[in-house]
Parts: sequence; C-alpha cells; structure tokens
Amino acid sequence: MNYSRIALIALGATLTASLIAAPVDEKLVIDGELEMTTVAPSPEGHPLPEVRSGWHYRTETTRALEADSFENPGMLGVEQGEELWNTVEGTAGKSCASCHQDAAETMAGLGAVYPKWHEASGKPINIELQINACRVNNMGAEAYKFDKGGQKPLTAYIKHQSLGEPVKVSLEEGDMQAWWERGKELYYKRTGQLNLSCASCHEKNNGKYIRADHLSQGNVNGFPTYRLKQGNLISLHNRFRGCIRDTRAEYPAAFSDDLMALEVYTTWRGQGLSVETPAVRQ
Ligand code: HEC
Ligand code: HEC
Repeated sequence: MNYSRIALIALGATLTASLIAAPVDEKLVIDGELEMTTVAPSPEGHPLPEVRSGWHYRTETTRALEADSFENPGMLGVEQGEELWNTVEGTAGKSCASCHQDAAETMAGLGAVYPKWHEASGKPINIELQINACRVNNMGAEAYKFDKGGQKPLTAYIKHQSLGEPVKVSLEEGDMQAWWERGKELYYKRTGQLNLSCASCHEKNNGKYIRADHLSQGNVNGFPTYRLKQGNLISLHNRFRGCIRDTRAEYPAAFSDDLMALEVYTTWRGQGLSVETPAVRQ
C-alpha cells in the first residue's frame, strides 16, 4: 500500500470517527449595534441549502472576540491600514487619501463587490491588486509583494469599510462567468497525495471535526481574517495555499490565475453573507 493510500485512510478515519456538531445557532451583532448576516439563502445553483459564515463553527470565546471591536485583535491591523491610507509614498508625493479622501465614504461598500472584472487587464481584480495598481500607476510607488509591506492591513482597512454589507459578486461583467467556471473546476478537482478537493472538506464533510478543527463551508467573507493560531492577519490567498498544502499538493502562486479563479468562485459561494473583515478564526 502506498503512502497516499495510507494517508487517505487515516484522514477518512479522522473524519468518520469524529463528532458531527451543528454549527451554533446564534446571531453575530458587532458592538451590540450592527447585526450581521451570517446565514443566507444560497444563490441559484449552489450545492448547499444555505450559506453560513465560518463564525458559526468557532468556539464561544472566538465568536465573542469578533463581536466586540475593542477585543477583536484584527482591529489593530485595520488601524495600521488607516495610517497607511494617509501616508505619502512614491515619486508623485501622494497618499491614498490625496485622491480618495475619506475612506469611510469613498470605499464604503466596495469590499463587498470584489473581486470584479477589470477591463484594462482582461481579468478579475481583487482589492490587493487594485491597491498595487494605484501604488504603481497613481503614486509612483512599488507594488507590495504578496503579504508584505502594508498589503494585509490596507486590504483589511478597505474591506472593513463594508462591514455588514452583503457580499455580491457580479458575474455579468466581462468574462467573469468563465473565471467562475474555472474556479468551480478547481474547487472540485482532487489533488495532492491525499487526493482531496476543497469540496471534500468544505462541502461533503462540512460540520465534521478534522484534527480538532470544526469544518466550515470555507467562506471568504471575513478576509483578511485574524487567526489566533498565527497571531496575525491572514490573507485569502495565504489561506487557499494553506488548505491546498494540507492535501500535500503543490500550491499555485498568490494572485495566479488559478487562485484568482478560486477567489471568484468561493466569493460567489458565500454570496449574501455580510463582510466580516477582520473576522476572528482559530
Ligand atoms: C493620484 C490619484 C490616486 C491615488 C494616489 C490613489 N488612487 Fe486609487 N484610484 C485612482 C483612480 C483614478 C481610480 C479609478 C481608476 C483605476 O482603477 O485606476 C482608483 C481606483 C481605486 C480603487 C477601486 C475603486 C472602485 O470603484 O472599485 C481602490 C480600492 C483604490 N483606488 C484604492 C487606492 C489605495 C488603497 C491607494 C493608496 C495605496 C490609492 N488608491 C491611491 C486614483 C488614485
Ligand atoms: C483536508 C481538509 C481541507 C481541504 C481539502 C480544504 N480545506 Fe479549507 N479549511 C480546512 C480547515 C480545517 C479550515 C479551518 C476550519 C474551517 O473554517 O473550516 C479551513 C478553512 C478554510 C477557509 C477559511 C474559512 C473562514 O471562515 O475563515 C477558507 C476560505 C478555505 N478553507 C478554503 C478552501 C479552499 C478554496 C480549498 C480548496 C483549494 C480548501 N479550503 C480545501 C480544511 C480543508
């Protein structure tokens, strides 16, 4: 018996021998004021009866951290992002605020409708890439490298301006539908020595425990999320790569066409959920 076969059986045993627990049936209200949509009707063609935020699958302590913006450790990243927003960089002598002024107004709602079609590059664009486009084309500054510089905090700051807004990805623009198809294919494709797809864990085994971790639907509405395990904000493409690595497969580069397609498809799978950035996860 080869290694992958043993590993697969071991994983199967972990999943089947484990408990199945219903995700908690509670409401997430931020600071006792902003009621979040954490369960939403599935968009047409969705395989699950309803979409559910990963918040429901976390422990009481973790859920409480997200409900209180003073306790949420991800809010430090958002504050860093605000500083970066106002910092002059690059040869044009401008900050983000020089052109976009008050993010609470100009960025409101934007985080809920990304990724979106970007005509100029003929591809979908996400917030991280849009930040880089502005840095290079409008500020004369260098693009942030993946997960470096201010990429995570600035992305978190921009997405946080849409806190509570329902995620909505527009598949009608440009070739978005084709990118959705490509993302879907990747989502169901079994890879790695463990021969698992995203769907193996987040669709078929959703609600079960794997190595003491309660498997959610793998929704993306809280990114960048604060992970207690890492003590840091974690970007979406980092999470994708981590999940792919766990199947012992080679993982694609951040912002590669494969991961952009997955971002389009997984964002659609969580459509209707509130933007939770920065969500708190284990
Ligand atoms: C010199 C002016 C200028 C500066 C400085 C600038 N931008 Fe932009 N930004 C634009 C323009 C013009 C657009 C719309 C066209 C485009 O996509 O380039 C835009 C678009 C955007 C969008 C997309 C808006 C939408 O409707 O989807 C975001 C997000 C954004 N900028 C963020 C930033 C951030 C973050 C910074 C600082 C790192 C920044 N911008 C710096 C001019 C600027
Ligand atoms: C071996 C099982 C496994 C596979 C395969 C897997 N994941 Fe995950 N994933 C996890 C676990 C465990 C977590 C953390 C608990 C949770 O939220 O499910 C997680 C979390 C996530 C999250 C964060 C959810 C949140 O609420 O913050 C996303 C997004 C995600 N996965 C996407 C994917 C995608 C896309 C794929 C396929 C490329 C994939 N996962 C494949 C096990 C897996």
